[in-house]
Amino acid sequence: MLTNDQLALWDRETFFHASTHLAAHARGETPSRIITGGEGVWIEDRDGRRLLDAFAGLYCVNVGYGRREIIEAITEQARELAYYHAYVGHGTEASITLARMILDRAPAGMSKVYFGLGGSDANETNVKLVWYFNNILGRPEKKKIISRWRGYHGSGLMTGSLTGLKAFHAKFDLPLPQVLHTEAPYYFRRKDLAQSEAEFVAHCAAALEALIEREGADTIAAFIGEPALGTGGLVPPPAGYWEAIQPILKKHDILLIADEVVSGFGRLGAMFGSDHYGIRPDIITIAKGLTSAYAPLSGSIVNDRVWAVLERGTDENGPIGHGWTYSAHPLGAAAGIANLELVDKLELVKNARETGPYLRDAFTRAIGAHPNLGEIRGEGLLCAVEFVEDRDTRTFFDPAARIGARVTGALLAEGVIARAMPEGDIIGFAPPLCLTRDEADRIAGALGKAVAATFN
Ligand SMILES: Cc1ncc(COP(=O)(O)O)c(C=O)c1O
Repeated sequence: MLTNDQLALWDRETFFHASTHLAAHARGETPSRIITGGEGVWIEDRDGRRLLDAFAGLYCVNVGYGRREIIEAITEQARELAYYHAYVGHGTEASITLARMILDRAPAGMSKVYFGLGGSDANETNVKLVWYFNNILGRPEKKKIISRWRGYHGSGLMTGSLTGLKAFHAKFDLPLPQVLHTEAPYYFRRKDLAQSEAEFVAHCAAALEALIEREGADTIAAFIGEPALGTGGLVPPPAGYWEAIQPILKKHDILLIADEVVSGFGRLGAMFGSDHYGIRPDIITIAKGLTSAYAPLSGSIVNDRVWAVLERGTDENGPIGHGWTYSAHPLGAAAGIANLELVDKLELVKNARETGPYLRDAFTRAIGAHPNLGEIRGEGLLCAVEFVEDRDTRTFFDPAARIGARVTGALLAEGVIARAMPEGDIIGFAPPLCLTRDEADRIAGALGKAVAATFN
């Protein structure tokens, strides 16, 4: 540990961190964590400690750290042309090539890619596009967006509203009035324990239909959902969920936005979560795995139907009034091309599909019999372990006990980074998609020790 570390002092004095207890950090009550390097699934901090990053940063470094191919592609692009904008028909070789590569991988029926910087701004774009769409179609009242409790769609004004987690609303005067929330497809947390999975799905579908009827379908523009819930608990949908939801949306002419910021490009063991679950979205949000976070880049992929209306809109009204200075930034685009090539070359989608179940089996061997284990779940390399106070009655711990944070603290002591998810005692694991079985065993071994240390 460095003492009298100038950088750590500046960190407390000058740096406003995201999602942090600001006062505790400024007072020095929480450790400064300054990360200096990374290779594969490993990162290194300033004290020279190596940690296995089992959450891939913020589930975004999908190809792992230190990939020479991406670093060189960014460097080469910077040398050739570090920036040009995407306004008024401009583009770069990299941004056009990447759009082609994305559409080659996207679900059927998708038409064009708009590039942004991160998942939040991409979802802001999506909401604007949906509003524009309905204005062009002459239905200005059809504007509300339905999201799910526990959905995560960003932390901007509109996207923070779409996010269905209380901490992102409280004291920020959110959600905005155009946003409605419906039931989370989270079978383990169903209120009625006697419900079968199929009954629970029917209940979610009925709750959605009732909400639409209460508000009036002619006031509702779109439904947004992650194929599998992410930050809200890392929860694959119950069987039949998307099959039950989509006809309701169709019946009421409500657009479907699939937020694939986490699931896009392989995390669930399929290139897109939409393909995996049979979702036919009108718009898809992408970010994280698009560049594996080597440079900021996101995208809104629109389907043929939405695109046709956008074209009509500009014929009637002139150029679309939407754009960011850094839309389609060439450094991000160059990173995206090299990243998608690596995903293919290293067969990372297949690895996620195969190593994910291996990791969950290893978790079951390590802690399957523990009395406080509620559930081990996941899809591909998106996994969660949820703890309960009483397994038989499925009673949850008092949040004040901070079980999730204690388990992740104990995991860190074992050299593994996992994430205590914000609502519930849920430990998230979303390692780089290049995870090997040895590394999976190491995570599971650390989890066994961390659970023993937490509940001793
Ligand atoms: C599903 C989903 N959508 C949107 C976002 C927001 O992305 P960003 O943090 O890049 O703004 C996230 C971030 O975790 C996400 O998980």
